[in-house]
Amino acid sequence: MSIKIGENIDLGEFPLLLAPMEDVSDPPFRYVCKQNGVDMMYTEFISSEGLIRDAAKSRQKLDIFEYERPIGIQIFGSDIEHMRQSSEICSQANPDLIDINYGCPVKNVACRGAGASLLQDIDKMVAMTKAVVEATHLPVTVKTRLGWDDSTKNVYEVAERLQDIGIKALSIHGRTRAQMYKGQADWSMIRDVKRNPRIHIPIFGNGDIDSVEKAAAWRQEYEVDGIMIGRASIGYPWIFREIKHFFNTGERLEGPTIAERVEVCRTHLTKSIEWKGDKVGIFEMRRHYANYFKGIPNFKEYRMQLVTLQTFEEIQEVLDEIQHSFSEVVV
Ligand SMILES: Cc1cc2nc3c(=O)[nH]c(=O)nc-3n(C[C@H](O)[C@H](O)[C@H](O)COP(=O)(O)O)c2cc1C
Repeated sequence: MSIKIGENIDLGEFPLLLAPMEDVSDPPFRYVCKQNGVDMMYTEFISSEGLIRDAAKSRQKLDIFEYERPIGIQIFGSDIEHMRQSSEICSQANPDLIDINYGCPVKNVACRGAGASLLQDIDKMVAMTKAVVEATHLPVTVKTRLGWDDSTKNVYEVAERLQDIGIKALSIHGRTRAQMYKGQADWSMIRDVKRNPRIHIPIFGNGDIDSVEKAAAWRQEYEVDGIMIGRASIGYPWIFREIKHFFNTGERLEGPTIAERVEVCRTHLTKSIEWKGDKVGIFEMRRHYANYFKGIPNFKEYRMQLVTLQTFEEIQEVLDEIQHSFSEVVV
């Protein structure tokens, strides 16, 4: 059975989604994920206050490209009227959907009444979502957590009430706000939501999927409509094609060779420079190298070069060297 968001977004049988990630899921990273078979992606979260002030950083995050479809723009905020206005601004950027973040646990978001903090005030969350839904012709989806803390795991109620006011899909990260990113994600409540006979929108499971085996096991065990993957894709966008291949054929794909790692890393760098310019593109790419080459023995010297060199040409040379030096290595 094909999973659909609203009338028009058809995601196929068991979609794999790239999680929205601040400072990670920008267009250059999304490009390499798209090349590797991801079914739907989201922008990094965008502050509604920033959008309304027309801040450059928020505006830039609205950049989306045709080949990325289907893609959602994610917004967060604490003020209902500002979220409504942001919904209008995002609609003009013409994404396939708008996603609201009710999951971010970090202090300067959750302690300012945005992100996961709305889990403490479901009435306000419902009013905010309604305002966003009514301000756009696009489908609206939500990403949230199990609840604020252990004593208030209210995602079951959240799912019902948000569905009632018109959201078209819900992604649930199997942790509370209090857990931040600690401990293990618990998907059992995600299954409870999915099993609720009142719920008919797609429910996507999120949290800790980092292998083909886990994706297959948790698909069975928790009965979700699709899986959203964040951290495991950083420096390893192949995770999408590996999981897809396994679901389609029952067979495991070989992991990427060093040559493939170098090639995708090079593409990521090239896209980064194209979109951000030389200086910022090279600088912001530095956070990704260690992930692309994780597990290669005696890599430190190359990593040091990659994170200090200032020009595209020099970095290209180091990437060539890595390809030659480690061509026999399997990681
Ligand atoms: C670096 C980083 C940035 C993140 N930024 C966002 C964000 O902008 N919006 C959001 O909804 N979640 C954000 N998250 C949470 C992820 O979307 C996801 O819910 C979480 O990482 C758990 O999934 P995973 O175990 O597959 O990584 C972020 C997570 C990380 C690690």
